[in-house]
Amino acid sequence: MLEIEQVTAGYAHRRNGRRGRTNVVEDVSLRVESGEIVGLVGESGCGKTTLARVVTGLHRPESGVVRYTGVDVHRLRGRALREHRRHVQMVFQDPYLTLNPRQTVRQALTEPLRIHRIGDARTRSARADELLDLVGLDCQVGARRPRQLSGGQQQRVAIARALALGPRLLVCDEPVTALDVSVQAKILNLLLDLRQQLGLACLFISHDLAVVRQLADRIAVMCHGRIVEQGPSQPITSGPRHPYTRALLAATPTINIPVGHATGSVAPGA
Ligand SMILES: Nc1ncnc2c1ncn2[C@@H]1O[C@H](COP(=O)(O)OP(=O)(O)OP(=O)(O)O)[C@@H](O)[C@H]1O
Ligand SMILES: [Mg+2]
Repeated sequence: MLEIEQVTAGYAHRRNGRRGRTNVVEDVSLRVESGEIVGLVGESGCGKTTLARVVTGLHRPESGVVRYTGVDVHRLRGRALREHRRHVQMVFQDPYLTLNPRQTVRQALTEPLRIHRIGDARTRSARADELLDLVGLDCQVGARRPRQLSGGQQQRVAIARALALGPRLLVCDEPVTALDVSVQAKILNLLLDLRQQLGLACLFISHDLAVVRQLADRIAVMCHGRIVEQGPSQPITSGPRHPYTRALLAATPTINIPVGHATGSVAPGA
């Protein structure tokens, strides 16, 4: 579904009056199959967000290619690009920054549909209720503004908004980092449920191996812009080969976040 092939990406800079480039993602190859959750884990500053931006088409790579269903993401223009944006959505670390403080939740959820000219006011509003239900929020939340919600509720709204256009792939960049452990678990369960219900694939980015290993089918470990190890979650977390993965594991608390107990439906609240 998603193929990242030998992607190198970085930023232009100017030092002592000279222009230059620093690459922060080096020769990364990674695949996400349909319905699969792939965890990308690595320490702060190793290039995870940069890679996420390359994957979603927001940042042009220096070299390499990102293909979604076989098509080069960075060659898409116009209508094809808009279509692509429906299929691949991103969820960010801080939901408060991604939600417009002046919009009600309902407006935030219907806006993507309005922009893509889907349905009329009535069907869009019905879709907003459906989305709230999907992420385990009461439809009365629709009338509130972001600041009247808890962090966990805000992140649920951000996820609901990302789901509005029926994406096939979510790129989640540290979506639970700003939340406390119990709310983290609820959001992770929500993502597992969405995979179950919608067959949604997910590239889940985190610096926290404890979070990633509860969720991901496969894990890729990133260090200084390179993937140093990748494979099915279980072997990577029980017998890591790369010293950096071992170090990450050693730094991971042994307490388990109780993920995976939800059965089909999502617990409300949080
Ligand atoms: N717009 C930018 N211009 C120049 N350098 C940048 C820019 N954005 C990020 N960087 C640099 O690129 C490197 C990788 O940043 P990136 O945000 O991809 O890391 P990250 O793995 O997401 O980190 P974190 O876990 O803290 O979010 C860092 O050294 C950062 O300083
Ligand atoms: Mg980041």
